[in-house]
Amino acid sequence: MNFDLLLCDIDAPIAVVTINRPDKLNALNAQVMDELDACFVELARNDEVRAIIITGAGDKAFVAGADIGQFSGMTHSDAEAFAKRGQSVFSRIESSGKPVIAAVNGYALGGGCELALACHIRIAAAGASFGQPEVTLGITPGYGGTQRLPRIVGRGIAFEMILTGDPVSAERAERIGLVNAVVPADELLTEARRIAGRIAQRGPVAVTLSARAVLAADLKLEQGLFVEAELFGRSFATDDVKEGVAAFLEKRRPDFKGR
Ligand code: COA
Repeated sequence: MNFDLLLCDIDAPIAVVTINRPDKLNALNAQVMDELDACFVELARNDEVRAIIITGAGDKAFVAGADIGQFSGMTHSDAEAFAKRGQSVFSRIESSGKPVIAAVNGYALGGGCELALACHIRIAAAGASFGQPEVTLGITPGYGGTQRLPRIVGRGIAFEMILTGDPVSAERAERIGLVNAVVPADELLTEARRIAGRIAQRGPVAVTLSARAVLAADLKLEQGLFVEAELFGRSFATDDVKEGVAAFLEKRRPDFKGR
């Protein structure tokens, strides 16, 4: 896949998507969003890809937010459409059916924090920082931050981050559950690949269905449990379950086909 502002390297079973605008700290302009969307459509279709890592080019930023240049002259309705477009791209990433790991290598601000929040697992380099600084610009978060951040860190911390606009360090992000782990910067991609590699060994259909079930934790408990039972049933309609159970009983590694 060839893009201007993204690199997408597939070394099956892992794909690494790098937002490649380092001179602008990988800020998300319309082209980056279109390319991210197109990239995830393709990756979702690629059966060889079993885990995806997203990171930013350079050593300074994951993504320093939506491109602020786009906000000049934006009207009420332009801004609403802008937010809906961003939300839909990030929802595609979250529900692509592939596990997505954010490897946060620096600033994850505004839309950058929201992009990381739409990923299933977040690993940060020491020195990275996370924040929703929109109020410092006189706007609100619009790419999902007000909804995903409280679901991940709880409302109290989300209110603090969103209402003050102040960033949190990688270490604090780990304490509040915003990231799964903090590692030295030069080990970030190795660690992300290690986790991606572990997931890629598991039953691919089961991984997809399990991620979908976890996302159903946003529903009321009875509805979420209903979804869980339905997806559990579906996992038994695969060849993978036969292989996984047979491999356990035969004391060997499973060879999942993803169907
Ligand atoms: N949108 C557009 N351009 C951005 C950007 C953004 N969100 N974040 C950084 N850039 C650009 C800068 O304008 C600068 O471009 P230039 O060299 O053409 O002037 C370049 O990236 C480097 O950024 P700079 O501000 O010089 O780096 P810094 O190390 O001094 O500061 C930040 C880094 C992240 C603190 C600072 O860039 C910043 O506050 N960015 C905006 C963060 C934000 O509010 N994001 C939410 C947007 S809703």
